[in-house]
Amino acid sequence: MDHFLYRNGILHAEDVALTDIAARVGTPFYCYSTATLTRHYHLFQEALAGLPHMICFAVKSNSNLAVLRILGDLGAGMDVVSIGEYLRARAAGVPGERIVFSGVGKTRQEMRAALQGGIRQFNVESEPELRALSEVAVSLGLTAPIALRVNPDVDAKTHEKIATGKSENKFGIPISRAREIYAEAAALPGLDVVGIDVHIGSQLTDLAPFEAAYLKVADLTRQLRADGHDIRRLDLGGGLGIPYERSNTAPPLPIEYGDVIRRTVGDLGCEIEIEPGRLISGNAGVLVASVIWVKQGEGRDFLILDAAMNDLVRPSMYGAWHDIVPVAEPAPGVDQHPYDVVGPVCETGDTFARARPLPPLAEGDLVAFRSAGAYGAVMASEYNTRPLIPEVLVHQDHFAVIRARPSFDEILKRDTIPYWV
Ligand code: LLP
Repeated sequence: MDHFLYRNGILHAEDVALTDIAARVGTPFYCYSTATLTRHYHLFQEALAGLPHMICFAVKSNSNLAVLRILGDLGAGMDVVSIGEYLRARAAGVPGERIVFSGVGKTRQEMRAALQGGIRQFNVESEPELRALSEVAVSLGLTAPIALRVNPDVDAKTHEKIATGKSENKFGIPISRAREIYAEAAALPGLDVVGIDVHIGSQLTDLAPFEAAYLKVADLTRQLRADGHDIRRLDLGGGLGIPYERSNTAPPLPIEYGDVIRRTVGDLGCEIEIEPGRLISGNAGVLVASVIWVKQGEGRDFLILDAAMNDLVRPSMYGAWHDIVPVAEPAPGVDQHPYDVVGPVCETGDTFARARPLPPLAEGDLVAFRSAGAYGAVMASEYNTRPLIPEVLVHQDHFAVIRARPSFDEILKRDTIPYWV
């Protein structure tokens, strides 16, 4: 459930009409609902109630400082994958002891900054990274708490570009070599081995792959303990999927996911960390765009919007589906019309949907892309010199711009023409 509903014939975010925001900030824009973010965080809290745990929000899914502040104030930890994300989490007020640092390619510079700034744990993904982290920690006279990310060789049954848990993926250390690498980690100076980390992919709509991976982690925990390691934390990653196509999908609920965690690793006495991104932020956001033109093509009508692939890349990058709804509530029983919904960018790939049934729309009408709060604004670019679009946050009956649209002047000023040109 989210807080984007029709009221008095207009799609609202909580108590604010999206038409009011459009009138103030112009389209296109992203709009997030505080109540939905909060609700989704609480669903995970409930799912893990009774187990010692920390919910580390995957900052990559939505890194706006206001979003991070809301979640941080609720007690969330953060999962970051770059020093930039680390600095965002800190700027939002999240202390270092609630931040885990994931990612296959952390640089020594990033390790140094995170160690000096304070960090809960590094999720280490390779032997070279392990050795480098040890060197950096020793050089600073500090100790780095680490978990090793294991690759459990489990098929997450999701889109190939976002599956991470098969042996052919670049992520983690092969679980078959884990004991050997844990032995090395324990022997290296400057490291404190605290746990095991696993993340098998994103947008999982089936719990079985989680179950398979977590059972392997449970076995490994027992083995490593027998080898003498004090395994006290399990980071189980993120990845729980959301219903992008509301009419025909119903992915598992956080409470069911929590049951899998209890069943597989609940009896090990470990503190559980999870790293959900999409399930917290995805359905807490919409992208609102205007129809520029309705163009008649050969046997099809194109709905040309002022939003494009640079604003929301998921459809062109992954063939992803986003529900598209008119902001003005259609009359009951109105005939739907198939539209190819496209943006203004000069590529055929700039297509959001083909033959999408929608009520008849006209120039100037507003539409909303649902489920756009995760991997939307964070993946945007300025391709075609289209300014990054604003982000707006709603709380009950008020809203604030939480990232303003840059001016063309600001964009042009970032480039420099060297003196010899
Ligand atoms: N933890 C790690 C180590 C991750 O790599 C990810 C996502 C997450 C947690 C959060 O996963 P979530 O709960 O959000 O599924 N851009 C793609 C998704 C990429 C996901 C990358 N890693 C998309 O738009 O579908």
